[in-house]
Amino acid sequence: MGRQMTCTAPVNIAVIKYWGKRDPTLILPTNSSLSVTLSQDDLHSRTTVSIAPEYDQDRMWLNGIECPVSSNIRLVNCLQAAREQRKAMEAADSSLPSWSTWGIRIASVNNFPTAAGLASSASGYACLVYTLAQVLELPLTPSQLSRYARLGSGSACRSILGGFVGWEMGKLANGEDSLAYQVAPETHWSELEALILVVNDAKKDTSSTVGMQTTVKTSTLAQHRFASVVAERMQQMEQAIQDRNFEQFAKITMQDSNQFHAICLDTYPPIFYLNDTSRTIIRIVTTINELCPEIQAAYTFDAGPNAVIYAPKQHMPRLIQLFTYFFPAAHPLPSEEFFNDPYHCVPTGVTLGETLPSEYESLRDTFSVMPVGSVKRIIHTRVGDGPRVLSDP
Ligand code: DP6
Repeated sequence: MGRQMTCTAPVNIAVIKYWGKRDPTLILPTNSSLSVTLSQDDLHSRTTVSIAPEYDQDRMWLNGIECPVSSNIRLVNCLQAAREQRKAMEAADSSLPSWSTWGIRIASVNNFPTAAGLASSASGYACLVYTLAQVLELPLTPSQLSRYARLGSGSACRSILGGFVGWEMGKLANGEDSLAYQVAPETHWSELEALILVVNDAKKDTSSTVGMQTTVKTSTLAQHRFASVVAERMQQMEQAIQDRNFEQFAKITMQDSNQFHAICLDTYPPIFYLNDTSRTIIRIVTTINELCPEIQAAYTFDAGPNAVIYAPKQHMPRLIQLFTYFFPAAHPLPSEEFFNDPYHCVPTGVTLGETLPSEYESLRDTFSVMPVGSVKRIIHTRVGDGPRVLSDP
């Protein structure tokens, strides 16, 4: 008889960006990074792992489609790391069942459509290794487990924990000290919320993996960032989180997003992830921060044009009103249940955005209403917890 387990894992969005590897096989970064784990009530990967003695080979299905395991070296590395640990446990204690010799089957789905414009590798690999560790009964702390997630995708190591999560770059060549750690749990600063402004849901031109290798090889600005910028920012950001100091959190978040996109531009040939809509979002947020003291917000952009806006809960209704005014809807929302929930996804421009409150008239002089569909949808979420077990064997 085999064993089976199902778990979910969250998405995370970095406020100090990881961009650059010192070891591309072990996925060891050139700088430490820090992220916010988003609520998996809204966005998550869900993975079932089964092991059985009769499975003759490892197999995986992603959103219902089988993906050959052997051609995915990162997946092979994750499975091998977990199996080796289990093997060592079995060698040390002969009473343990020999699960390390059984075949593994994995079925993973994301509850957020590709159209949400989010990378799924972080939540996907975090969910895979978390579920595998449950099935194989590996006695690992979340930090230790983050090493296995890192072998799948660098940013995945941060989705092993909830709340505010750091990834210490480490110094060792074998990566043993390159681990994720929790800076603060989600309950520490639960008023922090996020909006995801989906600008483009198409696959990005330059993948993170390829893009960051070119950056490491060619950008002199990146060398400056690794040597002289990130360590201090990590400390300042951890302090801002401990103090729940949104102003400081926002400043570092925006500066770090800017520097990440600056090193992309300094890469040769250059990499462009932001587009005109992204730049308008940046200008709107900085103008709001300057002209509207009652609203505070911070933008950040990963390897694509979609914006993530962090803001205190009480500022969200106003922010949503402004974004929906300046970015009218392209079309009604898709009918999926997820996108019909008014809390999780605001239909851009449909109801809220038709009028601009009189106190924001001055913004109308600075910005014109953007072409319909520049922002395709807005997802409203908050800080969340780490991976969860959904069912026992
Ligand atoms: C811009 O984790 O996707 O989102 O390690 O090659 O899988 P690989 O890259 P990935 O890169 C994420 C880059 C980023 C910044 C971040 O999440 O820190």
